[in-house]
Amino acid sequence: MAFPVERPRRLRTSAAVRRLVAETTVEARQLVLPMFVAEGLAEPRAISSMPGVVQHTRDSARKAVADAAEADLGGVMLFGIPEHKNASGSAGLDPHGILNVAIADAVSEAGDALVVMSDLCLDEFTDHGHCGVLDDRGRVDNDATLAIYAQMGVAQAQAGAQMVGPSGMMDGQVGAIRTALDAAGFADTSILAYATKYASAFYGPFREAVRSSLRGDRHTYQQAPANIVESLRETALDVAEGADIVMVKPALGYLDVLVAVRAAVDVPVAAYNVSGEYAMVEAAAAHGWIDRERAIDETIVSIRRAGADIVLTYWATEVAQRLHRR
Ligand code: PBG
Repeated sequence: MAFPVERPRRLRTSAAVRRLVAETTVEARQLVLPMFVAEGLAEPRAISSMPGVVQHTRDSARKAVADAAEADLGGVMLFGIPEHKNASGSAGLDPHGILNVAIADAVSEAGDALVVMSDLCLDEFTDHGHCGVLDDRGRVDNDATLAIYAQMGVAQAQAGAQMVGPSGMMDGQVGAIRTALDAAGFADTSILAYATKYASAFYGPFREAVRSSLRGDRHTYQQAPANIVESLRETALDVAEGADIVMVKPALGYLDVLVAVRAAVDVPVAAYNVSGEYAMVEAAAAHGWIDRERAIDETIVSIRRAGADIVLTYWATEVAQRLHRR
């Protein structure tokens, strides 16, 4: 037999044919921009470990939401950074707290153009930096935290959030939040559940972004990187408790998890391209070691190819603008 028998290269011969046979697409509507809004800032503040990302003032956040809507993004995910943190994270429940006012600002800015989502977790609001409240022995108290999450979810819905994103990995969090939202008349407010969230070093730059005061680690509530069967269990529980969308986080080291989760559920699947994944590309590109735009595009298409219907990424607006220029 004479080789080659088949010539797959034929379908790579021109840009037009490559475009014709592309299996995976990235569209602006599939991208969600995570944003940090800080209380008491006069000017946006740079985050040194995430070049190009800032802690927003309320005004600059409004502008970024308008840009996101203009770029046709699917949504924004808001994180609030309060001036004062305490043991119970009470600033997260306050209707005048930074996250809740930022939600209202975003909704008034974006209207129906995109989905306004909010992080539903205590770590930005607690002085100890954990995702829940602590018991008298200093352990994260699951059930006491659920009661606070339930109130926080209602506060965010009242502020106008169309989708809340519980990211604390407490057992029963989706069910507790769903029950509270329904009881408060917010049956239409959706839950994007961080169903499988790993205890990852790749959240490093995020800790600077939210001025986290965490001492210790999150190993008693976030998952171990070695596990995947456990991810499927966590995801199934969240769907059973009422999650409308489930998320895998981080993305790049966990694309196998994304494949498995996509196959296992019948709800949309999101993936979070986290701060450390962002920082690695930006740092290498700043040294001239990789082609920045190609690396970004390859990152996003890989996450989509593995099965993410929705991608949260700090590059969302930039990528969407680039898509529109093509
Ligand atoms: C917790 C939360 C974290 C991130 C999103 N939500 C930090 C953590 O779990 O330690 C990380 C996001 C990123 O690294 O980009 N509220």
